[in-house]
Amino acid sequence: MRKTQVVIVGGGPSGLLLSQLLCRQGVACVVLERHSRDHVERRIRAGLLEWTTVELLNEAGVGGRMMREGLVHDGFVLALDGRTQRIDLKGLAGRQVLVYGQTELQRDLGEVTASRVVWDAREVSIRDFASSRPQVTYRASGAEHAIECDFIAGCDGYHGTCRASVPRDKITQYERVLPFGWLGVLADVRPVHDELIYSNHVRGFALCSMRSRTRSRYYVQCPATDKAEAWPDERFWSELQARLPEEYAARLATAASIEKSIAPLRSFVAEPMRFGRLFLAGDAAHIVPPAGAKGLNLAAADVRLLSEALAEYYRSGSETLLEEYSPRALARVWKATRFSWWFSTLTHKFSDDPLARKLQLAEFMYLAESDAACRVVAENYAGLPLRVAGSGSGSMGPSRKRKAATPANSTRPAIRNASTKE
Ligand code: FAD
Ligand code: PHB
Repeated sequence: MRKTQVVIVGGGPSGLLLSQLLCRQGVACVVLERHSRDHVERRIRAGLLEWTTVELLNEAGVGGRMMREGLVHDGFVLALDGRTQRIDLKGLAGRQVLVYGQTELQRDLGEVTASRVVWDAREVSIRDFASSRPQVTYRASGAEHAIECDFIAGCDGYHGTCRASVPRDKITQYERVLPFGWLGVLADVRPVHDELIYSNHVRGFALCSMRSRTRSRYYVQCPATDKAEAWPDERFWSELQARLPEEYAARLATAASIEKSIAPLRSFVAEPMRFGRLFLAGDAAHIVPPAGAKGLNLAAADVRLLSEALAEYYRSGSETLLEEYSPRALARVWKATRFSWWFSTLTHKFSDDPLARKLQLAEFMYLAESDAACRVVAENYAGLPLRVAGSGSGSMGPSRKRKAATPANSTRPAIRNASTKE
């Protein structure tokens, strides 16, 4: 039977980035992705990277094109019924963010990990992860395959098989589904503004984002039950325009859409993120509503922790970081879940309740008057540090200081044989 050290289920950003980080530390792995490479690279999703994610991608050796083509942003604009408030990320949090599409990142990662990925791997099934020799089976090119490994990384997203394979009494899942979705449109028009605009209007939320100086990514809140076909381009553009403050609405350029899709929105966290020799990472373990732009960034933070923990295990035999993985990841996940929820409640229309509207207005006016309130938003939006309070057992103080594990760009060889064997 084929053997490797780590089998990674899922070839989205978390799976491929984990594979790259492990490879650079001499840990052998195989990635099993159920869709074709082309399909995965075409999925339009995230657009905004925190600076810690940017640094991680550079350390992983995949940041070249991102640094050349990504757009650095110092802040963003919040709007409510025509009033605007800029959040100065650089001034208030000392950090910037980078606009770089998930499709581009997926392509960059796809190139460097190509030799380790099995695309179109169907019927992936994991077993024996409570033992020291887990196994993964799958079908590819019309044949059945089995791999024996030391560890399984479940990077297979919200609908994947890894989390679903955990016995129900071993996992707690927290979920709140939002009563609306996001209709997203990609179009080759110059962005309406050089920073992102999050607009709360009585008709509902709108977001003006971008992929480049000539390609825009726009979203409007819509009923969760809507189908994209119910939104011809003209309807989308006029709805977006109606929800923007006048100064931006007047500048909105429109064109035929290149892509149009509706995303459901939810907050979801599974606890713990480790089950014996199975580790969950990214959307497989948690989902946040996209308004805070946290999903992909959380996924990157998870796989950084996991790659450090696995590398330490192969280097020294120590399981300390493996044991700390779930509490450390979850401490950050819950803080991002809180922020994404709060940011969504500030910017979206949840009901026709006039009291809810007044509360949103009060919150907005508080931001307009208080640098301290804006700093809280800026700190969270730009991204919390990798190690946050609450990640250790019982400690509420500053994160425990421990010697950092080998940096992700270390090329030191692993102690164990790092080659994948048939
Ligand atoms: P996924 O991207 O879901 O990848 C999982 C992979 O596993 C998929 O390729 C899937 O095909 C594969 N898979 C599933 N089941 C199996 C199986 N049984 N066998 C094998 N393979 C399997 N995040 C941000 O940080 N910033 C943003 O600006 C942002 N904007 C967003 C906008 C929208 C509209 C949406 C919907 C999301 C946004 N996100 C954003 C979230 C971000 O896109 C996700 O958090 C990110 O894709 C998670 O990556 P992942 O690899 O964990 O999961
Ligand atoms: C995007 O560009 O797709 C995007 C940007 C910021 C968000 C969500 C999505 O908060």
